[in-house]
Amino acid sequence: MANESDEARILVLGIETSCDDTACAVVDGSGVVVTSVVSSQLEAHRDFGGVVPEIASREHLANWPTVSRETLERAGIGWQDVDVVAATRGPGLIGALLVGMSLAKAIAYGLGKPFLGIHHLEGHLYSAFLKAPGEPAEAVPESFVGLVVSGGHTALYGVADGAVETIAETRDDAMGEVFDKVGKRLGLVYPQGPLVDELAEDGIPGGRALTVARCRDGSLDFSYSGLKTQVLLAIEALEKDGVETELGTAAEPPAEVLGLLSDFRAAAVAQLLDRLTRLHRSRPFSVLAVSGGVAANRLLRHEAAAWAQEREIDLRLVPLIYAGDNAAMIAHAALIRHRRGESDNPLAVEAASRIPI
Ligand code: KG4
Ligand code: ZN
Repeated sequence: MANESDEARILVLGIETSCDDTACAVVDGSGVVVTSVVSSQLEAHRDFGGVVPEIASREHLANWPTVSRETLERAGIGWQDVDVVAATRGPGLIGALLVGMSLAKAIAYGLGKPFLGIHHLEGHLYSAFLKAPGEPAEAVPESFVGLVVSGGHTALYGVADGAVETIAETRDDAMGEVFDKVGKRLGLVYPQGPLVDELAEDGIPGGRALTVARCRDGSLDFSYSGLKTQVLLAIEALEKDGVETELGTAAEPPAEVLGLLSDFRAAAVAQLLDRLTRLHRSRPFSVLAVSGGVAANRLLRHEAAAWAQEREIDLRLVPLIYAGDNAAMIAHAALIRHRRGESDNPLAVEAASRIPI
């Protein structure tokens, strides 16, 4: 039986290739992120205005030798030092997932080490407990509520004793996706979310009452397509009034557009807080973990902190470096399952574009 200090010394190698980032990371047994390398494919997809699945798969294959070499070199280790191998098994682009899964399975098989296929959202969910590089991750509390907000998902999870229950999901567009679409309409380049957030900082909010959508059946599910339509119509109305809305070329973005983006961001974040408030009322919780690419949003970080403080809830906001897709979160989620004695049969677990958490 391995003792605690042996367990702290193990090294988990994680691979994440679910979309357009080729990522590899090493996390040790105490949850320290030893190295995390993320190679972006933005340039390869830019001319197409979005991610092209076929290109993503080919880029993952092309990037892997450099990304894996860099990961091991920076960690100061060789393949033989890896104790557990993990990869994202889904959801995501199937061709892209297959690259990471096939690599991880082959490495695990070649080294004779355990393999784990990790759900991408499970990676995001627990990433809120990661700390700055070099610091051990916080132990995952027995029970907490997780809010995962990304380009593909807006979801609320209840976690108790390792079991994850989906409380609410997006019924249409995810929040990050709507940020991207609004930005695209204004001529910004992908990913537009961070740029829209930055522009919204400079706007004066309050010009427009945008509605916070709720489901008629009382469910806590999210819906962002109505907000998207309201904002796209507002942009059209501004254009009719002669306002320049093409921000890709405008030297100075017009105040009307900045104000609209500010209102848009406020309504988008307000929907998240609406769901959290209603959930907390019906089913009080004491720890909230917020993660996913959109958890980098400045207003969301600020408002979530204020909301949690008011209710004396412990908030865990994912560190900015692990908000977007990365492999440290995959290695960390694998470590959590490995500690529970779990592993997957590499011959039985397949990549899948859509899978429940
Ligand atoms: O988690 P992630 O890297 O990938 C997915 O799993 O989807 O999330 C990416 C999403 C993109 O839609 C991106 O525009 C959005 O997160 N995003 C933001 C911000 N930073 C990234 N959205 C709003 N504000 C931000 N600061
Ligand atoms: Zn993600």
